[in-house]
Amino acid sequence: MSIATEPFGQAPDGQAVALFTLTNAAGRQVKITNYGGIVVSLTARDRAGKLDDVVLGFETLAEYIAETPYFGAIVGRYGNRIGGAAFTLDSKKYSLAANDGPNSLHGGSTGFDKVVWRARAVEGDGADAIELEYLSADGEEGYPGALSVKVVYTWTDADELRIDYTAETDKRTVVNLTNHSYFNLAGAGVGNNLAHEIMIEADHFTPVNATLIPTGELRSVKDTPMDFTHPVAIGERIDADDEQLTLGGGYDHNWVLRSSDGSLALAARVHEPTTGRVLEVLTTEPGVQFYSGNFLDGHLVGKGGRTYVHRGALCLETQHFPDSPNRPEFPSTILSPGQTYRQTTVFRLSVRA
Ligand code: GLA
Repeated sequence: MSIATEPFGQAPDGQAVALFTLTNAAGRQVKITNYGGIVVSLTARDRAGKLDDVVLGFETLAEYIAETPYFGAIVGRYGNRIGGAAFTLDSKKYSLAANDGPNSLHGGSTGFDKVVWRARAVEGDGADAIELEYLSADGEEGYPGALSVKVVYTWTDADELRIDYTAETDKRTVVNLTNHSYFNLAGAGVGNNLAHEIMIEADHFTPVNATLIPTGELRSVKDTPMDFTHPVAIGERIDADDEQLTLGGGYDHNWVLRSSDGSLALAARVHEPTTGRVLEVLTTEPGVQFYSGNFLDGHLVGKGGRTYVHRGALCLETQHFPDSPNRPEFPSTILSPGQTYRQTTVFRLSVRA
């Protein structure tokens, strides 16, 4: 294992940004920058042993700063949507940036995806890590409490990218952190995701309204295009005549994971048949947003000059359910002083013969 560090340019506020390359014993690499905690590149072998970069992104920091739909980033303080861009906590109303129609999406105008994190490279035996820290000020983006956040990316000899998140606050607040990597297991920029087969360990999902806010119902996936209890190609039902698919422009929903006790459990498995590549997602979170890249429209050109077409990737954003601060019946996203927020997610890459 080894870690190489190089400069990656300057953030808009003048801070120097670094790019870390972690290489495992088999030569597979992950590149991570401390701007937004972005996973810039992740290589995986295919059936023939060929390595390809399987996450969407850019070669330069300037391109990330110019425009990115959260490619590879750490999302917070609240990943996903908060309805009406407001919530009430302990009888006090907090107003957030409405940056997605009437709602607040992914932490507001300057979420954790757009800040510079303090970084430390830690070389280990069979695993290397990048530790990222960020102190989000009390009132930043409208959220109460100074939140001290730590994200540790660990890249192992077993081709696992493990992400351990912890956070502490000095006032009651809400927290929901995730990673927004866009995977295309055929290779970033190689066509769309429709042939990818996906299985999600969930019997229910949270149906949404017209602005993608959950209605509050936990609906059975049975006999719907949301049923991924057995592997199904994304393209098989994505254009079905279905109210929820129409509202999402495809898949852009939260699945209620079977495992809800906070243990690290399998959430989803994706298989790309032409290359044999497999991605397994394990998490301690109760939900996962399966987003089929519906807002990608071919105008972004990424690494290697490749165009990111409509549905050119998929995201599996492990999370608490969207709009939880306004839904007391959903698992709580409230963090109090003295408590430690924890979430762990593992992206495990392998290959099927
Ligand atoms: C999440 C959301 C999508 C979209 C993407 C970013 O997956 O659920 O609706 O906003 O982030 O483009």
